[in-house]
Amino acid sequence: SSDKYMRLETLLLPLETHSSLSVRFALSFCFRDDDVIAVTYPKSGTIWMQEILPLVLNGGDLTPIHTIPNWDRVPWLEEKRLELVVNQLLPPRALVTHFTYNIMPPSFHTSRAKVIYVMRNPLDAVVSSYYFHQMAEFLDDPGSFDEFIDRFLEGRVMFGKWTDHVKSWRHTKLGDRIMYITYEEMVQDLPAAIRRISTFLGRRLSEETIQKIAEHCSFNAMKANTMSNFSLVPKQFMDNDKSSFLRKGKSGDWKNHFSAEQLARFSSVICKDLGDEILSLPYELNQLE
Ligand code: PPS
Repeated sequence: SSDKYMRLETLLLPLETHSSLSVRFALSFCFRDDDVIAVTYPKSGTIWMQEILPLVLNGGDLTPIHTIPNWDRVPWLEEKRLELVVNQLLPPRALVTHFTYNIMPPSFHTSRAKVIYVMRNPLDAVVSSYYFHQMAEFLDDPGSFDEFIDRFLEGRVMFGKWTDHVKSWRHTKLGDRIMYITYEEMVQDLPAAIRRISTFLGRRLSEETIQKIAEHCSFNAMKANTMSNFSLVPKQFMDNDKSSFLRKGKSGDWKNHFSAEQLARFSSVICKDLGDEILSLPYELNQLE
């Protein structure tokens, strides 16, 4: 199983998309003041931000989302592709990362690069991840959902524990450089989320442009966009017959998967790992027990 991943501190990185060279490249990456990076724990809204950010930054020009695959359009800081495309990125550059705060490179801290942290209810993140492990051939087989819950809680999944990730990005010294948003907020009112993001990035967009961006970043529009739905990826890496990368796009799908016992187990471990931090989170996990 572990031959599919490499370790970076507490994080497991899939070898299909990461290498020691790509990690070295990330750790010596030179951030610029006008860079924007969306930070996510896996399955929490990453590819959604790869769609939204270019449109907000360029005022709604659809060219990038219709001509560049998402992984090259807004590359992952830690993945192999970055080194190949970095010189083609037009400023202001947009990136994504699954790194925890402690791993970010020195230039990130000294720059004024802006950060958007997207969080998703871990109950839905684990469900999404479970299906992703079934279709992504470069990840371990997830086993049963019950087994996968334990692996997730123990951090034996890509990028480690959800709680470590969230906690690492809560108390940063980033001040007004960081904005927090949730996947659920985006599902509930995408135009409002885009408005918040554009204000944070200092982009004045007309209401018409915001509506247009929201339309093109909807679940159905992204699912129909070849440059965003991973249909360009060969079947031996991602098998869309097993599950789709853009699978359901809902909040609360966990209710269709968790038994009462699993929910109690999950919530109690997450609450324990979060400690006092639970108070600053938008989810009332303690009420779920
Ligand atoms: S990854 O592998 O970490 O990059 O995955 P990530 O993109 O973070 O998460 C994938 C989940 O995000 C959902 N998604 C969306 N939901 C609603 N609307 C839009 N536009 C959208 N784009 C991506 C995607 O469907 C995955 O969630 P699930 O619950 O599996 O559907």
